[in-house]
Amino acid sequence: MSSDSFSGHLRSTLFVFTLLFFIIHSSSQSDERQFLLKFKSILTNSKTQVLNTWNEETHACNFTGIVCNSDEEVKEINLSNQQLAGTLDFDSLCSLKSLEKMSLGSNLFYGSVSSHLSNCTNLQYLDLGMNFFSGEVPDLSPLTQLKFLSLNLSGFSGPFPWKSIGNLTGLTFLSLGDNTFDKSPFPSEILKLYNLDSVYLSNCTIEGRIPEAIGDLTSLKSLQLSDNNLTGEIPAGITKLTKLQMLELYDNKLTGILPVGLSNLLNLSQFDVSTNNLHGDVSVLKFLTQLESLQLFENSFSGEIPQEFGDFKFLKQFSIYKNQFTGELPAKIGSWAEFEYIDVSENYLTGSIPPDMCKMGTLQKLLMLQNKFTGGLPENYAGCSSLIRLRVSNNSLSGQIPDGIWSLPNVSMIDLEMNQFEGQVPASIGEAKSLTQLFLANNRFSGELPTEISNVSTLVEIELTGNQFSGEIPSSIGGLKKLSNVHLQDNMFSGAIPESLGSCVSLNEINLAGNSLSGQIPASLGSLASLNSLNLSGNKLTGAIPASLSSLKLTLIDLSDNNLVGRVPQLLLMVAYNGSFAGNPGLCADGSKDLRECSQASHKSGLIKVAVYCFIAGVLVLMLSLAYILIIKLRKIDRKCPINRGGSWDVKQFHVLKFSEDEILRSLTQENLIGKGGSGNVYKVDLKCGEQLAVKHMWKSEPDSGSWRSSRSSAAILPKERARWPEYEAEVAALSSLRHMNVVKLYCCISSEDSNLLVYEYMPNGSLWDRLHTNKKIKMDWDVRYEIAIGAAMGLEYLHHGCERPVLHRDVKSSNILLDEEMKPKLADFGLAKIVQSGKAMNSTHIIAGTHGYIAPVYWVQNEMRTKEDMVSLVDPNISKDAKEDAVKMLSIAVHCTMKLPALRPSMRMVVKMLEEVKPYLFTDIIIEKEGANNVSLCKN
Ligand SMILES: *[C@@H]1O[C@H](CO)[C@@H](O)[C@H](O)[C@H]1NC(C)=O
Ligand SMILES: *[C@@H]1O[C@H](CO)[C@@H](O)[C@H](O)[C@H]1NC(C)=O
Ligand SMILES: *[C@@H]1O[C@H](CO)[C@@H](O)[C@H](O)[C@H]1NC(C)=O
Ligand SMILES: *[C@@H]1O[C@H](CO)[C@@H](O)[C@H](O)[C@H]1NC(C)=O
Ligand SMILES: *[C@@H]1O[C@H](CO)[C@@H](O)[C@H](O)[C@H]1NC(C)=O
Repeated sequence: MSSDSFSGHLRSTLFVFTLLFFIIHSSSQSDERQFLLKFKSILTNSKTQVLNTWNEETHACNFTGIVCNSDEEVKEINLSNQQLAGTLDFDSLCSLKSLEKMSLGSNLFYGSVSSHLSNCTNLQYLDLGMNFFSGEVPDLSPLTQLKFLSLNLSGFSGPFPWKSIGNLTGLTFLSLGDNTFDKSPFPSEILKLYNLDSVYLSNCTIEGRIPEAIGDLTSLKSLQLSDNNLTGEIPAGITKLTKLQMLELYDNKLTGILPVGLSNLLNLSQFDVSTNNLHGDVSVLKFLTQLESLQLFENSFSGEIPQEFGDFKFLKQFSIYKNQFTGELPAKIGSWAEFEYIDVSENYLTGSIPPDMCKMGTLQKLLMLQNKFTGGLPENYAGCSSLIRLRVSNNSLSGQIPDGIWSLPNVSMIDLEMNQFEGQVPASIGEAKSLTQLFLANNRFSGELPTEISNVSTLVEIELTGNQFSGEIPSSIGGLKKLSNVHLQDNMFSGAIPESLGSCVSLNEINLAGNSLSGQIPASLGSLASLNSLNLSGNKLTGAIPASLSSLKLTLIDLSDNNLVGRVPQLLLMVAYNGSFAGNPGLCADGSKDLRECSQASHKSGLIKVAVYCFIAGVLVLMLSLAYILIIKLRKIDRKCPINRGGSWDVKQFHVLKFSEDEILRSLTQENLIGKGGSGNVYKVDLKCGEQLAVKHMWKSEPDSGSWRSSRSSAAILPKERARWPEYEAEVAALSSLRHMNVVKLYCCISSEDSNLLVYEYMPNGSLWDRLHTNKKIKMDWDVRYEIAIGAAMGLEYLHHGCERPVLHRDVKSSNILLDEEMKPKLADFGLAKIVQSGKAMNSTHIIAGTHGYIAPVYWVQNEMRTKEDMVSLVDPNISKDAKEDAVKMLSIAVHCTMKLPALRPSMRMVVKMLEEVKPYLFTDIIIEKEGANNVSLCKN
């Protein structure tokens, strides 16, 4: 071999090597891109802006959120808080050989976390916290490099693999709280993780004692074990943790006293042991001069507040309510740092209110109710424009309120009740632009209520009971459109009740009892749609009770001890309590045992009266019959039809109709009536051809008065009965354009001047409520229930995401979910629905808040489900054992939908995805029928 050919050979070999290296190198590059794109492809909202750069054209190292090492291998994924949703493909992610950091917290990921996570063996930083996963946390023991582990508030349950973290000795940050793990004692495995500086194990079902050996974790700066079921004393070991800055043990069952050595924790700035069973004094805390936040409330602490607290230069939050503290507050407390709040309510504190807590102008809450404070409200607070809540009720405070207090621009609640304050409410109260609650009851306030009070348009409650207010109730009061409760009883108000009170449209309770009000009861009160309680007793009111009050839906009415005269309207007698009209000698009623009969007539004239009534009734019946026959003749309508066809009928159709308007009208007979509701009667119509329809009949004007109302329950305010007409329009507007297999189909509406007919498809199985709770109850297997749940969810998904302009139903409940012959669910009753203008965010709260008929979700269930067993016990016992597991999964999805913050609730699109994940094994494939516009064959004429 010549040297030439040798070097040529060498060169070509080198070339091949170079080429190979290049190919291998670039192929591993494109592999990494493929892994990332695969991860992206599984996300359900992968179109979010942040992943726009994730495409075939871009180098993986240039993908948003990706950081590579010097070899251009993916080292970090930083995608926390990006609203990403979907399941996580750990198979792909953990194929990234050099991945050290995976930051995916605060997103909307769901599904289980697969055991493939344990292939990510180079991970040092793992954040999956604040997501919506389900199931157990997989084995983490292979992740031996981990320093940062955050899984808090992520929907995990089952046993936590404590053993697997025992060897992760590099851990410095461990956050597992807010998950419903199985009950467990304090995990001894973490006591060997000496590098830990932050531990968050709050609210994850740990019980029993905190071990003494916690004191070995001497690097700890933050230790949070709140919201568990911890018992026993706070171990003395804790006092060895001298680096601690934050110690949170609240909401447990800890007993005993604060350990003496706590005085060693000189770096402590946040200390919270609230809501436990601790007792003894708190003098040991007087050394902790770095404290910013001190929370001792809801314990049984006693003794005096250390005067040293008054010198704490950083104190911003101080809450010790519901204990048995005595003595005085340090005069300088809260005067150094930007102090935010003090709550010392429900103790036995004496002395005066410390004057300088708003010195830095940042105080938001001053809460000192139910103590024995004396003296006045210090003048300084009149300039405290940051103040939001001022509550000093139930003390022995006295003197005048500094003027500026009444007009504080941010104050929302002023509560001075049960003291000995005196003086007047000044006109400047009109400048209190944020005031919603004004509580002055049981003091010695006097003078007139200023007219300017009507400028406080935010006012919801006025409580002035038991003072010496006098003069007239300002007629400007009608300007208070948000006013819900007005309690002016037991004062010296005089003059007439202002007519304008009837313009306070939100009023729920009116109590003007025990004043010197005169004149007539304004008829305008009868228009207060949500009034629930009306007490005007013990005044000097005259005249008749306005008939308009009959239309109110009251649980309490008290007009006793006035000078009212005349007949008590019959409808008021039905709701009224005994004695509601007593002490008004001029009042009478027919057939009431408490009031005299209106005519003083004898039995004999009584008989005459009956005869006269009979005669009048007879004549009326005769006249009506004649008129009826005449109308029938004129209109040539089938006699069975109860509908006044005074006007012509106008038909609006939304689907192809194969039936005539006449065929519908003829069928609206008593025997076809299948339901009576707040919004109208519902008839079942059998078409000649054998198919069926449901027809809702709504009146425009009030139907014959009494009969309609008599069925109401007294307490409930039934908005449906009141707003019948808008409801019809809402229903038509919402339903006419909707086409979905899980939304009830509105074929057409037929309207005249005074009546409306809504023609729907007929749902033979009635409502879900009926099937679950009434005598039409049937046994429903889990698969049937599951199908109903997912069907209803898909209907809502369509309303929220499938229409050009989203529709909010606002009255979703089992009685509004109807079932067809195959038990397939359809959403119905769109009477309260609202169409959101396109472009407006769906989560903007004002659309949802304050709508009548929408009852915000209650948190009872959430509170009842701390553990898996709890959750299983909440499940309907009729559900078979095998299905309970699935039911619990569905329950936790439901609970996600009721998160306190609407922003944290999943969208309906996500809910459907999550529900699909918990599909019972029984039917692996539900075939979702696509609905054409007119696929229901309605027979031809
Ligand atoms: C990333 O993008 C920048 C600018 O677009 C480009 O200069 C750079 O070469 C890209 N990096 C890689 C590794 O492709
Ligand atoms: C990842 O883990 C799974 C099971 O945990 C295993 O079957 C698979 O081979 C692993 N893949 C790699 C690339 O190590
Ligand atoms: C932890 O480490 C010890 C010793 O290094 C080993 O024996 C044990 O199996 C490890 N435990 C786990 C769960 O990996
Ligand atoms: C406790 O954790 C649950 C989730 O398991 C969460 O829904 C709840 O809000 C947490 N409670 C508190 C007080 O944070
Ligand atoms: C808390 O623990 C006690 C026993 O230590 C137990 O009786 C109780 O049921 C537990 N409570 C909860 C809510 O787990």
